[in-house]
Amino acid sequence: MTLYMIGIGLSDEKDISLKGLEAVKKCSFVYLENYTSSLNVPVNYLEKLYENKIILADRDLVEKRADDILDNAKAKDVAFLVVGDVFSATTHIDLMMRAKKKNIKVEIIHNASVLTAVGETGLMLYNFGKTTSIPFENENVETPYYTLKQNLENNMHTLFLLDLNPKEKKFMTVNDAIRYLLRVEIRRGEKIFTDNTLCVGCVKLGSLDKQIKAGKAKELLKFRFRDGVQCLIVPSKLHFVEEDALELYK
Ligand SMILES: C[S@@+](CC[C@H](N)C(=O)[O-])C[C@H]1O[C@@H](n2cnc3c(N)ncnc32)[C@H](O)[C@@H]1O
Repeated sequence: MTLYMIGIGLSDEKDISLKGLEAVKKCSFVYLENYTSSLNVPVNYLEKLYENKIILADRDLVEKRADDILDNAKAKDVAFLVVGDVFSATTHIDLMMRAKKKNIKVEIIHNASVLTAVGETGLMLYNFGKTTSIPFENENVETPYYTLKQNLENNMHTLFLLDLNPKEKKFMTVNDAIRYLLRVEIRRGEKIFTDNTLCVGCVKLGSLDKQIKAGKAKELLKFRFRDGVQCLIVPSKLHFVEEDALELYK
């Protein structure tokens, strides 16, 4: 039988592709990976449109008890749903490889990802360097700061993905991320990120109530972002088209 690994897009149940919807409707088991990102609607909206019961898959199930999912896929069609795109900023390639080792047929159905949705800011995707993540527990974490430093040296923009806990509806905010970078700056003093650094904050990209706000770090700290899934971009040197586009969001 087949393991369908399906990206379900960024905002609500209707962002699934037609191909994804057809696949999910015929599956005997439907898992929704619910720890790396989050939609803006409750699970029962998905169950209604997908005409199927959804099993929530936490990190423990996907990473430590993947055989539970794969054993089902040996006998029946199984859907594994991922918010955004299946392999963008996730580790689900592991599940795909395990399935293949067990001779389970795998079908991948892609979707939009935050990694491409940030194109809406006007910043060119070609001009992004390494993406980095800021965890909730970041007291002694400096990697995101040094990733920014490295990207700036290479004239590349930096996308910061921010920690979240969808179960508890807890999302790190753009302002938490700015405060984190300023804290590391004070400690390291390398003049990588200051109050005057240009930042772009994005909330719920792909939804009708998305927000994109560009401004200096100190200006964004005063801006009230909506609740929801958020990310921060620190641009490098701007192309004039990027500069014009960012004016829309100031
Ligand atoms: C680990 S990544 C997973 C990405 C997902 N697989 C995808 O393709 O979009 C999740 C992080 O990306 C960012 N993110 C995801 N969706 C977003 C959205 N719609 N708007 C803003 N940021 C988003 C948040 O920082 C979130 O914590």
